[in-house]
Amino acid sequence: MTILVTGGAGFIGSNFVLDWIAQVGERVLNLDALTYAGNLRNLASLQGDERHVFVHGDICDRTLVDKLLAEHRPRAVVHFAAESHVDRSIHGPGAFMRTNVEGTFTLLEAARGYWGGLKEEDKSAFRFLHVSTDEVYGSLAPDAPAFTEDHPYEPNSPYSASKAASDHLVRAWHHTYGLPVLTTNCSNNYGPYHFPEKLIPLLIVNALAGKPLPVYGDGRQIRDWLYVKDHCSGIRAVLAGGRVGQTYNIGGWNEQANIDIVHKVCGLLDELRPDPAGPYARLVTHVADRPGHDRRYAIDARKLERELGWRPAETFDSGIRKTVQWYLDHPDWVAEVQSGAYRDWLDRNYTTR
Ligand code: NAD
Ligand code: DAU
Repeated sequence: MTILVTGGAGFIGSNFVLDWIAQVGERVLNLDALTYAGNLRNLASLQGDERHVFVHGDICDRTLVDKLLAEHRPRAVVHFAAESHVDRSIHGPGAFMRTNVEGTFTLLEAARGYWGGLKEEDKSAFRFLHVSTDEVYGSLAPDAPAFTEDHPYEPNSPYSASKAASDHLVRAWHHTYGLPVLTTNCSNNYGPYHFPEKLIPLLIVNALAGKPLPVYGDGRQIRDWLYVKDHCSGIRAVLAGGRVGQTYNIGGWNEQANIDIVHKVCGLLDELRPDPAGPYARLVTHVADRPGHDRRYAIDARKLERELGWRPAETFDSGIRKTVQWYLDHPDWVAEVQSGAYRDWLDRNYTTR
């Protein structure tokens, strides 16, 4: 048995592949274009393991996807591949439309063709699981209840609009063609292998280098943080038992203002790697806000908890401590991702702020 994972060299995808092979042991065909966000080093521990087959390729390449499906006969597709960074989508939305919208369309069409030719038994067991985000629901007022699966779609950034479009395509391929799809909408992840363009790893990496810790606007924006391995266990639960055609929210009931995250990370670093120059919070620097910045996200994950018995294993305190420790223990990984395109991106995003 094989599953096809797209984007399995990225942050969440690589955590998912590592966990899947450790916990389920089933073969993974990993299709990833290795953009700036894809890092095969995340999967170094799987070198020589026949249960992991890596293919360097683009999800927009229909010929390649058709060939992979025909050759490897997966029982499921778990679709992570995307452009994922909101700030990049503001500077250059084109890549987001291509990968997130056209790429998802290409995969759906290829999956539809493959699935249509399966034997009845395999056809009913097949699943296409689309990994999406809470950002499709838009921004919440301070006292509004958390997003349920029935919340209207109100995306506000090119990134979230492209993910919303992909969610709609997935839904339509189920309603129109009967493709057995599942969609998950998760809140902000953090943990090992997180590329240091996103808030938490950027704070850790900058603090250790004595660089400013950029806080957009007043820093009172709220995100709902989930340890990445809990996201992976949620996806495994949905793949195993989710009702076809349904969407499931995944989140850790852990709303935090950005500025509080900044001070928590600084406090942990003060404890684990004290800086002789003084507390890391001295580096906090308020910079211009993100255009169209969503004020608050919060996920109501009760459907997943009720139907599939899923619960996160980590609290925020245990997860963030593990995360900071992971970055302290992996300076080589950090040094490697801080080269080339990554550095160019930092210049482009922050010198004009
Ligand atoms: P990431 O940017 O770290 O990784 C994306 C991966 O997709 C990379 O390995 C990249 O090389 C690959 N990729 C990009 N374009 C491709 C293409 N055209 N063909 C093949 N591969 C391609 O992203 P992430 O943070 O791991 O997010 C994974 C998925 O989870 C995304 O769909 C994202 O929308 C969703 N998500 C992310 C979060 C989060 O907090 N990071 C939360 C909820 C949902
Ligand atoms: O909610 C799920 C989403 O979480 C995913 O769909 C996205 O793929 C993922 O990137 C993430 O989006 P955010 O925009 O919330 O993540 P980011 O780490 O970029 O920013 C988190 C918050 O911190 C956000 O309010 C912006 C703020 N921020 C971010 C950076 C990079 C800063 O204040 N300073 C920064 O330098």
